[in-house]
Amino acid sequence: MAKFLWGSATAAYQCEGGWKEGGKGMSNWETFCHSEKNVVNPVTGDVASDHYHRYEEDIRMLSEGGQNAYRFSIAWTRIIPKGVGERSREGIEFYHRILDTCKKYKVEPLVTLYHYDLPQGLFEKGGWENRDTVQAYIEYAKVCFEEFGDKVKLWATVNEPNYETICCYGRGNYPPNVQDLSRRWKAMYHLLLASAGAVSAYKDMKGKGQIGIVSDSYSIEALKDTPEYKEAIYMADLFYNRCVNEVSVNGVYSQGFIDKLKSDGFDLSYMLEEDKETFIKGKVDYLGINAYDRTLVKPYSGGETVMTANNTGDGKTKNETIIKGWFALDEDPYTEKNAWGCELYPKAVYNLLMQLKEIYPHTPIIITENGLGYYDKLEDGCVHDEYRVEFLKSYLEWIKKAIDDGCDVRGYFVWSTMDLYSWINGYKKRYGLVYVDYDNDNNRIPKDSYYWYKQYILSEGEKFNAKIQ
Ligand code: BG6
Repeated sequence: MAKFLWGSATAAYQCEGGWKEGGKGMSNWETFCHSEKNVVNPVTGDVASDHYHRYEEDIRMLSEGGQNAYRFSIAWTRIIPKGVGERSREGIEFYHRILDTCKKYKVEPLVTLYHYDLPQGLFEKGGWENRDTVQAYIEYAKVCFEEFGDKVKLWATVNEPNYETICCYGRGNYPPNVQDLSRRWKAMYHLLLASAGAVSAYKDMKGKGQIGIVSDSYSIEALKDTPEYKEAIYMADLFYNRCVNEVSVNGVYSQGFIDKLKSDGFDLSYMLEEDKETFIKGKVDYLGINAYDRTLVKPYSGGETVMTANNTGDGKTKNETIIKGWFALDEDPYTEKNAWGCELYPKAVYNLLMQLKEIYPHTPIIITENGLGYYDKLEDGCVHDEYRVEFLKSYLEWIKKAIDDGCDVRGYFVWSTMDLYSWINGYKKRYGLVYVDYDNDNNRIPKDSYYWYKQYILSEGEKFNAKIQ
């Protein structure tokens, strides 16, 4: 990483479309979106932003927007359609074309190997709850290193082991749609083992780049400064952050986390002695952080575990979390929220970065996602998203302050490059710097935030370079 990465990000299922093209196999998301379980926002990623056909335009626009980096994910089912076994040359060639296009436009690719979409065959055998998925993933990762190793210098193993497993096994709004934390912990363990296995394989293959993990991490805060609230902060930190970051950065699980799972009576027999070596060998080169909002907590005060999410943006279902014996989510009535209840609290990113600097002082950080979901409006061919500009600007100001205060941040990616499918939140929740006119041939229209970002990189970009050699 010779210079600060200024980019934006996407994920395969959310933008590619082309779900039956190029020999692609089925993933759990295609199956889910086409099933009767998809009731909240019953749309699919069959076409999505049609990136499968329009990737050149998207990468060109990204580059013309002053960005020097593009984070995207590879669909496992394009490379190995059934999840294990035969590779698809057609699928591999598609990503070669994307990478060649990045090169053409002088854009550094940051490639995520797994961003929620799991091959259907593996999903049916238990997905991440099944240890066999770990080995299948490592084999898939090796194929990617072998095929794309010369063109990719920045890899991310998996996207958000915390958030994915919360949705799959806590809220139950992602497939397999269950609410059972013991299954969450098991699936998360295997995701992290898979990540460490891929890092370790990359090192064995003498990969020439850097490899990290993408972790949604939070500044955990409370409205009161009492021992009970401090305990709630500690618990939530284990629940959301340390469960992923500790083992990824240090190669060992935090003892506090393991003790808590044991005292709750969770069966941990899937944590094998022999895995310890994989975790040690699989320490990441950098930590990718997806930073959206702050997590405000209060002490657990009774009742069963509850986890619900506002996926519709109409507030009919609230974001509510009570984790029995751990903590509960709190709400600050005075801060601004978007329609989906996401708090707009930019200082959270500074607080988080300063905490990470304290805990993991030798691990560089890349902000792999930051952005604002909104009901954007196209008016006379323009999208005046000044709210997004305000959001991104204030986050960047705090990130800059964290860098000035000694935090080793190497890059920043806006979520998202263009509008795309928002996991069960529907297409009206938009994050893109570029508007996708879904009703008009998926035409691309740069939003005000796109032009603002370009200008910001030009005028402020150099100030972020401080730490980078
Ligand atoms: C992140 C994911 O958690 O948040 C993205 O990595 C996702 O894939 C983004 O799209 C925003 O979430 P949502 O559900 O509002 O689209």
